[in-house]
Amino acid sequence: MAYVVYTLLVAFFSVVHNDIVDAQSPTHWGRCPQHVPAVELDLEKFQGLWYEVERTFYVFELLAVCPRFNFTLLDDGSLEVQFFMKNRVYQDTNVYTGEVVPERKNPSVWDVRPKTSLPSMISRILPGSGKYYVLDTDYDNFAILWSCSNMGLMHSDLIWILGRDKKISPLHRSLIYSTLDSFKIDDGRLTLSKQKDCD
Ligand SMILES: *[C@@H]1O[C@H](CO)[C@@H](O)[C@H](O)[C@H]1NC(C)=O
Repeated sequence: MAYVVYTLLVAFFSVVHNDIVDAQSPTHWGRCPQHVPAVELDLEKFQGLWYEVERTFYVFELLAVCPRFNFTLLDDGSLEVQFFMKNRVYQDTNVYTGEVVPERKNPSVWDVRPKTSLPSMISRILPGSGKYYVLDTDYDNFAILWSCSNMGLMHSDLIWILGRDKKISPLHRSLIYSTLDSFKIDDGRLTLSKQKDCD
């Protein structure tokens, strides 16, 4: 019975929701879709510098320009990630360091936590923490990162398109978009990251 009510509620609200919430919104009704990433991720090849080329709206990055990631594989099999971003207003560059713990059986599923001296209960709710999925990568050109969090009756998901270069070729872009389509992830929300005038 509870399930029926729940389903009806979700159906009702998704109709209303589609009319009133614009396409930029990362929030959708229902639970996170269960994606099984198609790549056997080679963490060693994934290492190094990646530019954020496109992403969905993310409050934490509102003032960010020149966003880039640097992944380093550590001896214990985890990755250290450094996220660099320049502040559009103050023009200073900030570095955030995080710990990526890949699942043993499926290394393209990541548990990401900011590296801080804060208790883990607090660091878990900091921006950037959560479950991430590498949906696809060819290591040399592009990577698709996707993250989803359940929030009661709703879920919120974020997409990052990373490139080894600041731009992605039309060929790779069409590959990326068809991959997102195959996972039924709405790519209409992607916007270009600001990579102009960065060194
Ligand atoms: C990435 O991190 C590694 C290890 O800390 C470092 O050797 C390398 O210089 C970094 N690359 C960039 C572009 O920051």
